[in-house]
Parts: sequence; C-alpha cells; structure tokens
Amino acid sequence: MMRRRSIYMLVAATALSSCEYNVENEGMVIDDSCEPTISYTATIQPLIANNCMPCHNGDGNIPDAPDLTTYAAVQSRAELVKEVTQSRRMPKDGTLTDTEIAAIKCWVDGGALDN
Ligand code: HEC
Repeated sequence: MMRRRSIYMLVAATALSSCEYNVENEGMVIDDSCEPTISYTATIQPLIANNCMPCHNGDGNIPDAPDLTTYAAVQSRAELVKEVTQSRRMPKDGTLTDTEIAAIKCWVDGGALDN
C-alpha cells in the first residue's frame, strides 16, 4: 500500500512541476518554452499566407496594411507582427489559435531567422 501511495505522489508532483513552464497571459495559459525552434519556411510563412492574405499582399489596395509577402518584408516588421498578434489586433477576423500566436512570438524572439 505504501508503495502505491508514493507512486501517486510522484505523479502529482510531476503534474504540478510541469506548470512552472507555463506563464499566465491575460487569463490564458501559454506554453512559453519556445521549443522546438520555429521555422519561417515550415511554420511562419504558411501561417501568414493562410491568415494575413489577401489584406497584406503588398499591392497597396488596403491602405496601411504592410506588405507581408516575402521573408524580407516580414522580417523588417517582425516586432510589429508579434505585437499585433499577441494583442489579437490581427488578423482582423481573429482566427489565429493560441499555438499559432505562440509560434509567431517564439520565431520573433528567436531573432526572426530565415530558417
Ligand atoms: C481582413 C484584412 C486583414 C487581415 C486578414 C490581416 N490584416 Fe493586418 N492590417 C489590416 C489593415 C487594414 C491594417 C491597417 C489598419 C490597422 O492597423 O488596423 C493592418 C495593419 C497591420 C499591421 C501594422 C500595424 C501598425 O500598427 O502599423 C501589421 C503588423 C499587421 N496588420 C499584421 C497582420 C498579420 C500578421 C496578419 C495575419 C496573422 C494580419 N495582419 C491579417 C488588414 C488585415
């Protein structure tokens, strides 16, 4: 009986300690570990293509919507892209998941690499 109880304690302790890797952010629990490294080509580019077009296609039809069609264009506005997705100001229809928003943050915090 004692052995079984100590296994329960171990499971409970493990479950509790895993929470230390999460941070509270406006009432939501977000994984802040930034592992594994986020790839621009595999993750960020398709995410922008699916959620930020056609508004940010760079043709100037929508005033003040900056071009986000190339790596160079996104990289030059990386902090702003992070900011507007963290605040959920963008995309306008609010379709990004918490995981996608966290991926953008991690990619920008990691230096917005062309990886
Ligand atoms: C339905 C159209 C639409 C979609 C979809 C959209 N945007 Fe925008 N975005 C705009 C418009 C219009 C503006 C300029 C007016 C404003 O800032 O609200 C803008 C502005 C911005 C700015 C500049 C903000 C500033 O303060 O200068 C950034 C950065 C941005 N969007 C990023 C994104 C990202 C990243 C996505 C996708 C995850 C996205 N947007 C999706 C229409 C859109």
